[in-house]
Amino acid sequence: MQLDQKRKPRTSQRTAQLESKDVLLEPGKTVERGSGYEHVKLESFGLFESRASVRNIRGDAVSEGPILPSEYCQQRLDALYERVSACREEFIGYPLNLDFDYSEVLAPFLRFSLNNVGDPYQRVPTNLSALQTHDFEREVLEIFCGLTGGSPADVSGYVTNGGTEGNMYGLYLAREVLPRGIVYFSDACHYSVFKILRVLQMRSVRIRTDGRGEMDYNHLRETLQANRDLPAIVFANIGSTMTGAIDSLPRIKAAVSEAATCRSYIHCDAALSGFVLPFAPNPQPFGFSDGADSISVSGHKLIGSPIPCGVVLARRCHVEGIGSNIEYVGALDTTLSGSRNGLTPLVLWYAFRSRGIRTVRDMVRRALDVAAYATEQLRAAGVDAWRHENSLIVVFPRPSECLVKRWHLAAQADIAHLVTMPHVSRNQG
Ligand SMILES: Cc1ncc(COP(=O)(O)O)c(C=O)c1O
Repeated sequence: MQLDQKRKPRTSQRTAQLESKDVLLEPGKTVERGSGYEHVKLESFGLFESRASVRNIRGDAVSEGPILPSEYCQQRLDALYERVSACREEFIGYPLNLDFDYSEVLAPFLRFSLNNVGDPYQRVPTNLSALQTHDFEREVLEIFCGLTGGSPADVSGYVTNGGTEGNMYGLYLAREVLPRGIVYFSDACHYSVFKILRVLQMRSVRIRTDGRGEMDYNHLRETLQANRDLPAIVFANIGSTMTGAIDSLPRIKAAVSEAATCRSYIHCDAALSGFVLPFAPNPQPFGFSDGADSISVSGHKLIGSPIPCGVVLARRCHVEGIGSNIEYVGALDTTLSGSRNGLTPLVLWYAFRSRGIRTVRDMVRRALDVAAYATEQLRAAGVDAWRHENSLIVVFPRPSECLVKRWHLAAQADIAHLVTMPHVSRNQG
């Protein structure tokens, strides 16, 4: 495939920089660097044969590899570009929006080390303020806060590396607020939840689901009752990974109060649906006004981003309990990571501000419409397809491996799904 000039990756400048540095290493010359940790000796110098062996502190060779000519680097990158561009047409199995292009506006920022260390709401500038995009990050948080029925005075948060980090943050806050709490999570949770529970060493109980991935509230109530003396931390799926099932916050709250559980905390995992439900005509409740204590959403899913990202929000009273001032960076530490991505807040900010909320709403409504159409068409073709209300996930019996591969479908046991993300149209297939 001939790459069109406008979209061709501009990598030659970078490889030229690498080359000029490499020229410093002349054949046979030994270069000593720093504290003796690196000892670089160039053994030969020529196309594809340039090799430098690096010795570690004990004098062992630790790496050896060719210094690649820029044309070769360019070929590798062009081949990658071709592969990722080509998969777009048939990529319908995973919730990744491929319909965006921030390259014109945001590419200049790839030259800077944007680092959002610290709490985006801290009032005193950090030692890295010049390199931070906290102001853009706060605007993104305020947009999501508005979409989830929160008030910026009561809700805080930050831009994460993705939904998993947001879920870990929600459960971490819950554990700090309710150290003896038991986490109630369902069979349909994303696989990362098991890992998070292990990392945080939280006690947990797995709740059954109905045949379509929604929590079994009777089982939840019984288990809550059996542990009523211990606080309950309920992990609610607001759009489960495989079937898009939405756990009902009103029914969870009813189960908690019927079981007379002493204290409770609800975290909402809204990885995909967090940016769908606010724009759906008749959304299921999942916001702060519906009882959520924290909510996590992925940014690269519905909105689309070249770098995975997400947003986590939590009631300010929970976040205040974990903050500490770090003199070294002059930052208030309320987040999981130290250094944080300063570019992804720009991506999310630009996605909303350059299009406006109404355009995002129209994009979501179109995607819901395509999901309804795909379900209808599959059913008309005799496939037992179905979807939950307000879900972009269309579920059907697992087809042949050949179809799974061709359409990059997500398959698990006897079902598979497609997801009508904004780049998927009625004409596909
Ligand atoms: C329901 C749910 N939660 C969490 C995640 C993890 O999100 P991320 O991949 O952004 O870390 C996913 C990812 O597909 C998901 O579907």
